[in-house]
Amino acid sequence: MDIRIAIITCSDTRDIARDEAGAALEGLIAGAGWTLAGHVVVRDDEDEIARAIVRAVDEAGADIVITCGGTGLSPRDVTPEATARVCPRDVPGIAEAMRAYSMTKTRRAMLSRARCMQRAGALVVNFPGSTRAATECWESIADQFEHAVKMSAGGGHGAPAAGGAARA
Ligand code: MTE
Repeated sequence: MDIRIAIITCSDTRDIARDEAGAALEGLIAGAGWTLAGHVVVRDDEDEIARAIVRAVDEAGADIVITCGGTGLSPRDVTPEATARVCPRDVPGIAEAMRAYSMTKTRRAMLSRARCMQRAGALVVNFPGSTRAATECWESIADQFEHAVKMSAGGGHGAPAAGGAARA
């Protein structure tokens, strides 16, 4: 199943040529056999990030938008706020799964305010900005992307197996 994934790197200091974490995510998307639906770098600015999310979902038709960076505690970290502004529905389990896995790598993971939310049929997931953190967050949730995209598009679960629901 193809999945269209857009990357939005949120950083005051990076540009597309120096976006190492974004490049790593491009590699992971290609490695999974999925399609890159766009890759932009925007400043740590709530309006710019919100606009980029809207464009990725409404115009580029992304199934999943990964934002990268701006989830921390500094005053310039506004990615979660921008996400909440344009995404009406929270998907807390994905952010919880990222943090739980990330905490096995570094206790600093508790400093990320990353959220996962839905806009229309798309999932918008906030990753931290370092290459290592972004890669670890991908490792923690990417196995559920196909099912999440199917469900977001209105797909139902398969028929429950005898004695219980099917699991993946
Ligand atoms: N999560 C993982 N998996 N690995 C990491 O190295 N770094 C943490 C945290 N989450 C990290 C992580 C650190 S040091 C910070 S400050 C926060 O993410 C926020 O990062 P951001 O401001 O780049 O979004």
